[in-house]
Parts: sequence; structure tokens; C-alpha cells
Amino acid sequence: MKTLPLLDIQNITYTYPRQDKKQRTTFPAALTSVSLNIAQGEYVALLGHNGSGKSTLARHCNALLLPEQGRVLVDGLDTHDDMQHPSIRDKVGMIFQNPDNQIIATVVEDDVAWALRVRGFPPSLLHERVEEAMTAVGINTLRRFPPHKLSGGQRQRLAIAGVLALRPHCIIADEATSMLDPLSRQEIVSLLHQLHQEYHLTIIHVTHLLEEAALAERIVVMEQGRIVMDGMPSTIFANLEHLRSLKLAIPEPLALAERLRAIGFPLSKHALTIEAIAQEIMH
Ligand SMILES: Nc1ncnc2c1ncn2[C@@H]1O[C@H](COP(=O)(O)OP(=O)(O)OP(=O)(O)O)[C@@H](O)[C@H]1O
Ligand SMILES: [Mg+2]
Repeated sequence: MKTLPLLDIQNITYTYPRQDKKQRTTFPAALTSVSLNIAQGEYVALLGHNGSGKSTLARHCNALLLPEQGRVLVDGLDTHDDMQHPSIRDKVGMIFQNPDNQIIATVVEDDVAWALRVRGFPPSLLHERVEEAMTAVGINTLRRFPPHKLSGGQRQRLAIAGVLALRPHCIIADEATSMLDPLSRQEIVSLLHQLHQEYHLTIIHVTHLLEEAALAERIVVMEQGRIVMDGMPSTIFANLEHLRSLKLAIPEPLALAERLRAIGFPLSKHALTIEAIAQEIMH
């Protein structure tokens, strides 16, 4: 039996409406004929340079935006059906670039509990879910802290805990690391991978950094509102020229592997990190 994809995006097109109704011109389409299936438990990097349509696509996955043409099914639920929006948003949580836009309460544990409280969870279940979420992201020792006393990385963990408390099937992280210092950035990426493995969570990791995308199981590349590449990292990175033409910065290990191949080292397509390159050269 074929299992239902968690996200089934069917040929969607979307154009942002103009606020100024007097203007006759319209914006160009932000998404054009986009189709994409994502299975439960996949770790997908959604890659593309500025303005390629990543956030617009991400916002269609939990009914923050509705397609003008085509449809989006989340675990079989059509986002065109308003009645399903609460269930859809429980299934697909989002975290954004700036954690401060998602922090509501003045104490960490109240903030994690916020969405559960709004949904009327009974206190014992609420407490259990909050503990579980704080432990999963490693902020339980900070439970009584006011969020503004936390570091950027800790605040992003807090935002993830708030989403996790709802036990979603999928977390979409839309450039969730881009405001962080390199160390916190790495920690948040590791946390996303850990949540993927431990809870079989589907992760959609929106980024314009090839370094971050390299760690995903699958990479979907966007350009001008369309999907232009979709495959495993080793396959996507086998075509550096195409990635360069999409204005994506090539990470140093990939550029090095390319130079080494050019002078005769027979590196495999799996040599994506300095360690992997060194291993292959030594064997
Ligand atoms: N609120 C909006 N109103 C009008 N146009 C918008 C709006 N938000 C995005 N766009 C346009 O839609 C297109 C896709 O933008 P989107 O934000 O989805 O891209 P992105 O890949 O997430 O970019 P970034 O890397 O900058 O986050 C761009 O041309 C952008 O200018
Ligand atoms: Mg964006």
C-alpha cells in the first residue's frame, strides 16, 4: 500500500496581492506551477537565493498562505478548507529567522506552554508536554528565566520548544539560523537533526547556505518561484556550475573537491566535507 505523503503540493501558483488597490499592475508570481511531495520523516533542505520563493512555499505548508491555483494537502487535509486550519497548524509548526517575534510570555516555561494553554490543554497534560519539550531542546534549567535574558541561540531553542510542545509531524525552520553566531547556528542545526532522528519528525530546513543543506537527506532548490533541482546532496552537488548559475555560494570543501578532481584525484561524489576528502585521498 502506498503511504500518503505528509505534504502533497500539487501544481501551485501564488501571486502576492497589491496593498494599493489603485495600482493596476500586479506583482510577478512568487510561485509558478510548484509540485512537491514530502514524506513523513524526511529531512529536506529548501535552498535558493534571496527572493526565489522559499518562504512563500513554506507558508503554503501550514495554510499561512493559500494557493491561487492548485492545492496543498497536509496529511490529506486540503489547506483551502478553513475548518482544517487548526489541525494543519498543529501538524506543521514553523520557526522563523527572529525568535523574538515568536516569544510571547515573560518566563520561559510559560512561553513553551502558551500554545497548549490557548488550546485548553488540562494542567497535567500541559505540564508533561512542556517538560518534554524543554528537555528535548535542552532549556529545562532556564525554565524560570525571562526570555530576554537568554542568548539568541537559547531563544531560538525556546521557539522550537513552543512548537514541539504541540507534537507536530513537521517543523519548518525558515532561515532559523541566519541571525545567530556561527556556534549557535551549528547547535540549532544539530538540534534539528536530533529532533528528526529521535522523534521521526519531518524537517523542512529553509536556507540559502549550501553548508547547511549538505547535511539534509534531500535538497530542493528554488529559483524565480519554481523548483529547479530536487535530489540527494551528492547528486545536487555534482553540478556546481548549475548551483553557481543560481547565485549560490559554493562552500570551500566542494570547491576544493572540484579543483582536486580537475588535477586528477578520482574523488567520489560523496566527498562533500574536508574530512571525507582527506579520507578518500589517503585510501
Ligand atoms: N509580502 C509580500 N508582498 C509582495 N511581494 C512579496 C512579499 N513577500 C515576498 N514577496 C516577493 O515574492 C518573491 C518570493 O519571495 P520569498 O520571500 O518567498 O523568497 P525567499 O526565497 O524566502 O527569499 P529570502 O531568501 O529573501 O528569504 C520575491 O520576489 C519577493 O519579492
Ligand atoms: Mg525567505
